[in-house]
Amino acid sequence: MGKPESPVGMVELAGWSGQKHRGFLERGLQLLLLLVTGALVALGLLHAAHSRGKQLTLFPSRLCFSKEEKTIVKRKPRAIPQPKEMDDICTSPGCVIAAARILQNMDPSREPCDDFYQYACGGWLRRHVIPETNSRYSVFDILRDELEVILKGVLENSTTRDRPAVQKAKMLYRSCMNERMIEKRDSQPLLNILDVMGGWPVTVEKWNEGVGPRWELEQQLAVMNTQFNRRVVIDLFIWNDDQNSSRHIIYIDQPTLGMPSREYYFNEGSNRKVREAYLQFMMSVATMLRADMNLPENSYLVQEDMAQVLELETQLANATAPQEERHDVTTLYHRMSLEDLQNKFGLKGFNWTLFIQSVLSSVKIKLLPDEEVVVYGIPYLQNLEDIIDVYSARTMQNYLVWRLVLDRISSLSQRFKDARANYRKVLYGTTVEEVRWRECVSYVNSNMESAVGSLYIREAFPGDSKDAVRELIDKVRAVFVETLDELGWMDEVSKKKAQEKAMNIREQIGYPDYILEERNKHLDEEYSNLNFSEDKYFENGLQNLKAGAQRSLKKLRETVDQNLWIIGAAVVNAFYSPNRNQIVFPAGILQPPFFSKEQPQALNFGGIGMVIGHEITHGFDDNGRNFDKNGNMLDWWSNFSAQHFRKQSECMIHQYGNYSWDLADNQNVNGFSTLGENIADNGGVRQAYKAYLKWMAEGGKDQQLPGLELSYDQLFFINYAQARPSPRPAATPLVRPQVWCGSYRPEFAIQSIKTDVHSPLKYRRLPLRRGHPHAPARALPRLVAMGEPHCVAHAHPPAEARCPFCARSWSSGRGQHRVRPAPGAQPRHPGRVAPPGALRLQPRALRPSPGDLFNCLHPLSKASLSAVQASDLS
Ligand SMILES: *[C@@H]1O[C@H](CO)[C@@H](O)[C@H](O)[C@H]1NC(C)=O
Ligand SMILES: *[C@@H]1O[C@H](CO)[C@@H](O)[C@H](O)[C@H]1NC(C)=O
Ligand SMILES: *[C@@H]1O[C@H](CO)[C@@H](O)[C@H](O)[C@H]1NC(C)=O
Ligand SMILES: *[C@@H]1O[C@H](CO)[C@@H](O)[C@H](O)[C@H]1NC(C)=O
Ligand SMILES: *[C@@H]1O[C@H](CO)[C@@H](O)[C@H](O)[C@H]1NC(C)=O
Ligand SMILES: *[C@@H]1O[C@H](CO)[C@@H](O)[C@H](O)[C@H]1NC(C)=O
Ligand SMILES: *[C@@H]1O[C@H](CO)[C@@H](O)[C@H](O)[C@H]1NC(C)=O
Ligand SMILES: [Zn+2]
Repeated sequence: MGKPESPVGMVELAGWSGQKHRGFLERGLQLLLLLVTGALVALGLLHAAHSRGKQLTLFPSRLCFSKEEKTIVKRKPRAIPQPKEMDDICTSPGCVIAAARILQNMDPSREPCDDFYQYACGGWLRRHVIPETNSRYSVFDILRDELEVILKGVLENSTTRDRPAVQKAKMLYRSCMNERMIEKRDSQPLLNILDVMGGWPVTVEKWNEGVGPRWELEQQLAVMNTQFNRRVVIDLFIWNDDQNSSRHIIYIDQPTLGMPSREYYFNEGSNRKVREAYLQFMMSVATMLRADMNLPENSYLVQEDMAQVLELETQLANATAPQEERHDVTTLYHRMSLEDLQNKFGLKGFNWTLFIQSVLSSVKIKLLPDEEVVVYGIPYLQNLEDIIDVYSARTMQNYLVWRLVLDRISSLSQRFKDARANYRKVLYGTTVEEVRWRECVSYVNSNMESAVGSLYIREAFPGDSKDAVRELIDKVRAVFVETLDELGWMDEVSKKKAQEKAMNIREQIGYPDYILEERNKHLDEEYSNLNFSEDKYFENGLQNLKAGAQRSLKKLRETVDQNLWIIGAAVVNAFYSPNRNQIVFPAGILQPPFFSKEQPQALNFGGIGMVIGHEITHGFDDNGRNFDKNGNMLDWWSNFSAQHFRKQSECMIHQYGNYSWDLADNQNVNGFSTLGENIADNGGVRQAYKAYLKWMAEGGKDQQLPGLELSYDQLFFINYAQARPSPRPAATPLVRPQVWCGSYRPEFAIQSIKTDVHSPLKYRRLPLRRGHPHAPARALPRLVAMGEPHCVAHAHPPAEARCPFCARSWSSGRGQHRVRPAPGAQPRHPGRVAPPGALRLQPRALRPSPGDLFNCLHPLSKASLSAVQASDLS
């Protein structure tokens, strides 16, 4: 929902008292803003009258504003003080580094009006090739790589004075690096656990006669869940009760699958190849394990069994609801008694009490007589009814154990990873495994985030950053709250509630203090039941799986700890939690280009300011808006406001749904599943920009960067454009939707266009999965998007209206941009516009009419929507 009004509106209405000199606003900004037009919010606001553009004089050319562009507005734009020639140029090391970074990433030879993407990111694109180990590469990924280098240093530092938590983290790391031992032990540790599970039928002689008759699905699912943290066939987890944020409750949901999303199981085209590689991978592993168990080769049996497994999983995939049908948490949520659950979903005799009790007994919890569960996966359970008894116990067991084996491959010797290589290649496009130390660093960090976080903070996080970030949060939040007042599509009562909610958002910045407190035992206690061994990486991993499952299950009878950190400190990401109404900015993202006390505020507002706005806006997106200021799912919207919200969302969904991504086989972006991020992106940049202007207007003094002839606003937008993680295609202002400073492999493009809304797997560790409305990943800092405000387009612009960015006339290009070669500017590398893998999105069905694209200037009517963008962070 939004927030700010349209750009135009913003200028005029804004309550801050800037001086109003005519003609100052930056063009660039405007432009962007316009383009960006905020999420829904924007919609309302625009007063047509005002709208039209502000006048931006004085813009120093670079970001495009030609003189002909004297726009229209009578209003007095707020002034942005332009730097005086030299005197406020900052030449501290932090500023010099920032200037160099920006310069290297951009391509100043490009005309920003013709191709802002190349202008902002051309330098970066020319200098980077996606590494063989990566499926995507961007400024954001580079930050993560650098963070891993720091973690490597601290984890490899052997001092003798470590506290137990840190000793364990280092031990875990060493065991992971102990490849000699891992090779030597080969498949033995895996074979040991197959026994615990009752064997993998495909590798057991006469399984049907031996184990088969005693086999119980309920018990098997419980063992998978509690011992190995694999929630297969039926997902059961403990989480905050959506309707009562102070307690936990049992959730039942549809499960994840072996491949990353359901489409791989039945769609044609490149999906078929992935599916074939997946089956081949399964068969290779089964064949290898049979040999290790001294069973005769039997390719017929292996083929037969594994084909059945894939068939079963295909049925399960078909039974799951696609993500776009799951984004409304209010319709997903069904609380019921255990008895109701059993009556409604009998599943041919599946004993729910037995299953749930078996899971809970692993943490010594007994079911209450009136125990309630929340079912998210109603359609899935209904469909499961028809599948559950179609396959034999053997096939079911083959499948369950396959999911365990699949998960454990990474901890085995090299030949198992080799067996997986082709599948990964087809799936992600990567041809080389990540170097070992990176895998290990990332594994240890995601499993022991508090211990690793304490090392990271000591090494790399300036303590005084916390306060500076808190101030930025306050500023962006204040703008959000003020902007709500200006929304025309929300009534007073809803506005008031929204403001209260925004004011009640609690923030977590950097890291939890206790991890640095030597005397505070809490850190060591978190890991007290872990006892790692340097020679047993595989078993150490099992301990982590079990501990992870138990940590989460144990919460059922505990009240919610509002101070708990939902993510570690050494993470380059940011989050919003609807159940807690909380935003989190781990130390890992509080670094340049996002934030530094040593860089101009323009960069901080365009960087972390934007991320802050994005996360706050998540509290009001299609998911967040269902929760009140205390994190309870409760409808606080008036009919009037809710109706407008829906209408606007619909437009945005269509807009994005009409973008296809050529790199992803021309599949369309999923407008439903990206909606929340699109709303957050649009809102985030607008709030941050507005907050920056306000800060300036209130006397804030910023500094220029050396060697760059960019105004403050241009700095804001350049940093925003370069830093923004864009996991997925985003619509850019000019031309086509693009990824900012980053490239994708096509295989990964195909995957990410389906699975979106997610943070990289290595940072996902809560018991949540794709599509789970609480998944922290939902809150990725997907920054902005300067989108084509298609949704605004219903109001067609007068033919003479011009986009402030470039002074183009709408009528002149039939929707294409007239490509106007910049005078004298030859591309430096003709023919090399973008590296292979660079994203290219093209609106497909949506043939832009002059009014559709770039209608940044239009007056938005109340009913019309704001712009949007698509994009996503991995
Ligand atoms: C290892 O850690 C100790 C204690 O934190 C520190 O004094 C030392 O400089 C570190 N060594 C290296 C090589 O980083
Ligand atoms: C929420 O749960 C807590 C703890 O179980 C309970 O005390 C409280 O009454 C519940 N609140 C509501 C509104 O049900
Ligand atoms: C998926 O399920 C539907 C019925 O629910 C069925 O008609 C369809 O054939 C199934 N598709 C596959 C690939 O199994
Ligand atoms: C289900 O399992 C529970 C717990 O083991 C048992 O008490 C109950 O009798 C079982 N119900 C049925 C219908 O078998
Ligand atoms: C940890 O494991 C080792 C053997 O692997 C054992 O000797 C030791 O007692 C265990 N320590 C604890 C605290 O359980
Ligand atoms: C709001 O909408 C609901 C259903 O959409 C309707 O039942 C209710 O009467 C409406 N309330 C008001 C005050 O219009
Ligand atoms: C494309 O846009 C049109 C009109 O805006 C809409 O009806 C259609 O559903 C959209 N397509 C997708 C896939 O969203
Ligand atoms: Zn987000």
